[in-house]
Amino acid sequence: MNYGHFDDHNREYVITQPDTPLPWINYLGCQAYFGIISNTAGGYSFYRDARLRRITRYRYNNAPGDFGGRYIYVRDDDSGEFWSPSWQPTQAKLEDYFCRHGLGYTIIGSRSNGIEARTRYFVPLDENLEIWQVTVTNHRQRVANLSVFSAIEFCLWDAQDDSTNFQRNFSIGEVEIEGGVIYHKTEYRERRNHFSFFACSEELTGFDTQREAFLGPYRGWGNPAVVESGKSRNSEAHGWAPVGSHHVRIPLNPGESRQVLFLLGYQENPRQEKFDPPDSLIINKKTTKPIIARYLAPAMADTAFERLRLYWDELLGLCQVETPDVHTNRMVNIWNAYQCMATFNMSRSASFYESGIGRGLGFRDSNQDLLGFVHMVPGRARERILDLAATQLPTGGAYHQYQPLTKRGNNDIGSGFNDDPHWLILGVSAYLKETGDWTLLDELVPYDNAPGSEKPLYEHLERSFRYTLDRLGPHGLPLIGRADWNDCLNLNCFSDTPGQSFQTTTNKDGKVAESVFIAGLFVLAGRELARIACHRGLAAESSCYLAEVLKMETTIREHGWDGEWFLRAYDDFGRKVGSKENAEGKIFIETQGFCSLAGVGLKDGLPARALESVRRLLATEHGIVLQQPAYSKYYLELGEISSYPPGYKENAGIFCHNNPWVMIGETRVGNGDAAHDYYSRINPSAREPISDIHRCEPYVYAQMIAGRDAPTHGEAKNSWLTGTAAWNYHAVTQWILGVRTDYEGLRIEPVIPKNWPGFRASRKFRGVCYHIEVQRTGPGNVVSLEVDGAPIQGNLVPLPPAGTKTVTVKATLR
Ligand code: BGC
Ligand code: NOJ
Repeated sequence: MNYGHFDDHNREYVITQPDTPLPWINYLGCQAYFGIISNTAGGYSFYRDARLRRITRYRYNNAPGDFGGRYIYVRDDDSGEFWSPSWQPTQAKLEDYFCRHGLGYTIIGSRSNGIEARTRYFVPLDENLEIWQVTVTNHRQRVANLSVFSAIEFCLWDAQDDSTNFQRNFSIGEVEIEGGVIYHKTEYRERRNHFSFFACSEELTGFDTQREAFLGPYRGWGNPAVVESGKSRNSEAHGWAPVGSHHVRIPLNPGESRQVLFLLGYQENPRQEKFDPPDSLIINKKTTKPIIARYLAPAMADTAFERLRLYWDELLGLCQVETPDVHTNRMVNIWNAYQCMATFNMSRSASFYESGIGRGLGFRDSNQDLLGFVHMVPGRARERILDLAATQLPTGGAYHQYQPLTKRGNNDIGSGFNDDPHWLILGVSAYLKETGDWTLLDELVPYDNAPGSEKPLYEHLERSFRYTLDRLGPHGLPLIGRADWNDCLNLNCFSDTPGQSFQTTTNKDGKVAESVFIAGLFVLAGRELARIACHRGLAAESSCYLAEVLKMETTIREHGWDGEWFLRAYDDFGRKVGSKENAEGKIFIETQGFCSLAGVGLKDGLPARALESVRRLLATEHGIVLQQPAYSKYYLELGEISSYPPGYKENAGIFCHNNPWVMIGETRVGNGDAAHDYYSRINPSAREPISDIHRCEPYVYAQMIAGRDAPTHGEAKNSWLTGTAAWNYHAVTQWILGVRTDYEGLRIEPVIPKNWPGFRASRKFRGVCYHIEVQRTGPGNVVSLEVDGAPIQGNLVPLPPAGTKTVTVKATLR
């Protein structure tokens, strides 16, 4: 069953029923001011850091999960009836409800008793505020005397503290109301120099800022006393829970429409200029008032919205494809790229599955996110790489996470995830391939942010590589440390105490357990590093890296191959993990995918055999599961992986992030049918007709789909913030469609399904627009290229002379 449909022309997903199986969300903002918004207007906003600068409140694990949001109430002042045009929170009956989630905006609207109300929510580019454009239309034959109320609940900034420290927080809330604008300024009197504002374009009939006054005792957001009575209390919050609510009256003639604008923004003042007058505690609003005035001017909101639209036109225009498959087109051209922006901005911090108060930005996560983002805003990718590298430790290891506001490594989780350093090499290589900006490598970057420790970024990459060589185990394979990509394979943890963190508890000295996955990663990253070194003219170093890579490949062939597939690891007893010798967890996807994509043992046909085993043992109609057979009980020596019930998450769930590794592996052995088939099984758009099973949003990837051992096989969870976004984008654009960035230029090497007659793509690369047309003349993957009408050898399109604007590439596959 569908809960809506794609509107590809407008690049929107249109939800037509408010009670979707789960809240289906969108993100507002793509630079510094962010919001999450669900199809019923639930969600919250924050500035840069979802934990430390939370603007509006969210209550965790609520039912429904998106409760609390950017609410509007419309009241018919003649009858006293009131409703929420976004259905929540009143849940009054609506006609023609719709929610259009678009690129950086959401429009929610409906009709009730002949009154139509729609709200467009968005964050203008380069501003730290969100606009709600509410349009109310009277379709009745008579005059309608209406009231509109806005409602938000402020968060007292640190979202973690806000939801726990009530003995203090109930006494510190402060607001100011001036000229119809509600300012939230809790803790501004002391060490904060930031505040938020909530403004309205119309003259106010009243306002409220004290939650209890607005709602009334023993009432909730579904029936606030103020809305029910039609009378604001003009309450001023002193402690308790500051909220923001405006009340405006809008009498509408038959057929008349009116717009009411609301602005919710974040603002900082220089420490010395916080107060006005300086010896008072009143917020200095000198810089804020002009911003408010500017955006409350009616035409400005439309102009800002148009700018946002053009921005996304431009970003998406960088890579557009026209294939025979509508789901491929839709995901590549619109939603997958859009999701890559969200994962770049949020890493794994804030969604309805990531609380925003837990993790900051993950080192491995953010590096991988670059794969799907770097072509969009390379400048921001560059900055991210430098921030990440600055959290690297002198050993070459890395803090597993860092806080986006402070850009400092997170000590609570620390380091010791032995795969982490290699992702930096891959992030950097993706950037170099996209931009050709080799100056990046000369940037001076500190270790652990310590002043004086700055070294060229290139040296960070070397240390990443050496980190593994300094930590080899008994078989010559990399020691796993706390975990590798699979955060739940905790082979040195041996935790038997409830509540201990699997990620940080380490009971073993870590000298035995080895990871075949890191070995595969080392091979891939090492090859890139060798090419990078070569480009820097360091031929000897380059050969040295290659020699280590070859050695590791040999080690994998000797100690990491199980006969029909790649082993996963060795545990602390030196026993195999992911082997036919095991009763459970005989075969894991990660090493099949990653070793295949890295081309380990390609000459001996190992990837083809490993992939054949994947097909036989791991593939399901809903995607490829992480391992089989699922662990049926908790294994002390394996860690968190066996803590999950079978079929969920890392214990044999379909962990979508690693499915594209298998897809890329399939392209490397020339199997375009299999690659695209796997791609389609987890493609959210292709799964839209089974929304009742899938349950998460049909326009973005989820981290996990329940595996076949789970009673809910096919059900997705943890949508939006997942490495799945970047990896699928990378797999489909660069390997299946084969429009692949490389240091020397763009390669065209498609490995597409046999029954595709071809496809077209346009790709902007280093300032040049490549128009690519691929035509199949035979069933294979052998490619011949014509560039601007002239045949060339090989699959690398040479970089055109400076000043060239477009290049036409004709590729023939036979
Ligand atoms: C999850 C992993 C996640 C890890 C770190 C585990 O509980 O299963 O997917 O990476 O926590 O936050
Ligand atoms: C989610 C984490 O964010 C990611 O870093 C990890 O690789 C996967 N889970 C697998 O455990």
